[in-house]
Amino acid sequence: MNLPSFSTTLHISTGSSQMSSKMITMSRITSSSSSPPPVKTSITSQPTSLPIRTVPGSYGLPLIGPFIDRLNYAWFQGSEDFFRKRIEKNQSTVFRTNVPPSFPFFLANPNVVAVLDCKSFAHMFDMEVVEKKDILVGDFMPSTKFTGDRRVCAYLDTAEPQHEQIKNFTMDILKRSSTIMIPTLTTLLDTMFDTIESQLPSGPVNYLVPIQKFNFSFLSRVIAGADPENSPDMAANGYIRMDRWLAVQLLPTVPITAFQPLVEIFLHSFPYPHFLVSNDYNKLYEFIEKEGKDVISRGQTEFNLTKEDTIHNLLFTLGFNAFGGFSIFLPSLLSALGSADRRIQENLRQEVREKTGSGLTFRAVNEMELIQSFVYETLRLNPPVPLQYGRARKDFNLSSHDSVFNIKKGELLCGFQPLVMKDPEIFDDPESFIADRFMNKGKELLTYLYWSNGPQNGTPSASNKQCAGKDFVTLTASMFLAHLLMRYDSVTIADGSFSGLEKAKQ
Ligand code: HEM
Repeated sequence: MNLPSFSTTLHISTGSSQMSSKMITMSRITSSSSSPPPVKTSITSQPTSLPIRTVPGSYGLPLIGPFIDRLNYAWFQGSEDFFRKRIEKNQSTVFRTNVPPSFPFFLANPNVVAVLDCKSFAHMFDMEVVEKKDILVGDFMPSTKFTGDRRVCAYLDTAEPQHEQIKNFTMDILKRSSTIMIPTLTTLLDTMFDTIESQLPSGPVNYLVPIQKFNFSFLSRVIAGADPENSPDMAANGYIRMDRWLAVQLLPTVPITAFQPLVEIFLHSFPYPHFLVSNDYNKLYEFIEKEGKDVISRGQTEFNLTKEDTIHNLLFTLGFNAFGGFSIFLPSLLSALGSADRRIQENLRQEVREKTGSGLTFRAVNEMELIQSFVYETLRLNPPVPLQYGRARKDFNLSSHDSVFNIKKGELLCGFQPLVMKDPEIFDDPESFIADRFMNKGKELLTYLYWSNGPQNGTPSASNKQCAGKDFVTLTASMFLAHLLMRYDSVTIADGSFSGLEKAKQ
């Protein structure tokens, strides 16, 4: 149960770098070819203790405090400014506040202790001090009716035996999928880009829907062994059914600053009943049951799961974890490519073409250091799952960079990744996109890249709650980018659309 590198005294270490609850020192390195800002590489402990401080901030008056915080979070300030302003006000990256959903029709308790720097956030990976039962999206949990009347893997704590069974099953699926991953990905991407190219003469082509279709097809095949092309309904509507199922569960927790106060009154005031999407879910269930027989059978025979548990968990992993995550991540990857200057796109293309002499292989992608760093930097600045939660299993001391706080058993920690990933104590020039930040010495920073609910150089396992798809996600994204840059000599992207694609000269 215990992660050795994240004990209660919080020592985070990779190779030579180490961060303790005491103090941080930095050393500068000479940069790689294109001179990114120097990387802080050495994080070492000092013998002096940090001062103990009471957690600042307050929850305000009952009902009114949470209500005001909710309006600020979802409307007046937006989530990033909401947390940023409270760091300034409390002069601390750890403080008390409320997060939605709350009053009037949610039974959830909105009180949290925000942890907004890399050091305090990392306590949420220590399963000795933090419990993860039913808090995937906070104290509010969507009805289990959305998932076949059962608590699927992401809602299980590591102390629950089923967590181990299902997580091992998920990681096994991914391992086995490696044989079909590359041909499936390249075939589906070629189909997607052929279609986009054919539409380009009429003007810029928005990529959101093509990417969703690609995601649904690719992930159904590699995760569940189920090909949507075998079902006309799934081929046409599978991704839309997934979107609806996701939206109805998550709407209460998603900040929307447009159309206020209507959104607050009508969309954020109560949870939605599952019957709105039960038809979609049943159709998806039937599809997996029919087309994913081999994977289901492995869940039953090798991991001792019931058929129903296997299918509902497969659907959640496929739809919520994978499809949901990639539907946010791949568009942000394209947007990062579109915003990067021409020289960076050229360097990426050159690396890809140098390494793919014998085609796109796992080995080739493994050698593409700039591509990987670009993917990591996109995940740092646009973490697809912005909020993470952890409930204190017992009383313990939580350290930020400058103070220690006593956390009581049962308190809910809440980390907001978009700010944590801009921790100036860890990342130089934290607001800037630096394509080669994670290259060479910069690889040590992977210890502080947390998009997967754990460090990028950590290992997902049954004894932690790190994303089971951590490596699959970065590999798929690297291959996606490599495929694009092999196929085109120039890619122009703006406002969520491809506006120019110049085919590679043979
Ligand atoms: C861009 C895509 C993805 C993102 C951003 C993402 C992100 C995350 C995050 C942040 C968590 C932890 C949630 C929490 O407990 O607070 C998580 C958990 C999980 N993810 Fe992913 N994920 C992605 C793709 C995938 C894929 C492709 C799979 C598997 C096929 C997967 C399987 C899981 C599972 C099973 C868990 C629960 C882990 C556990 O209970 O121990 N995810 N993911």
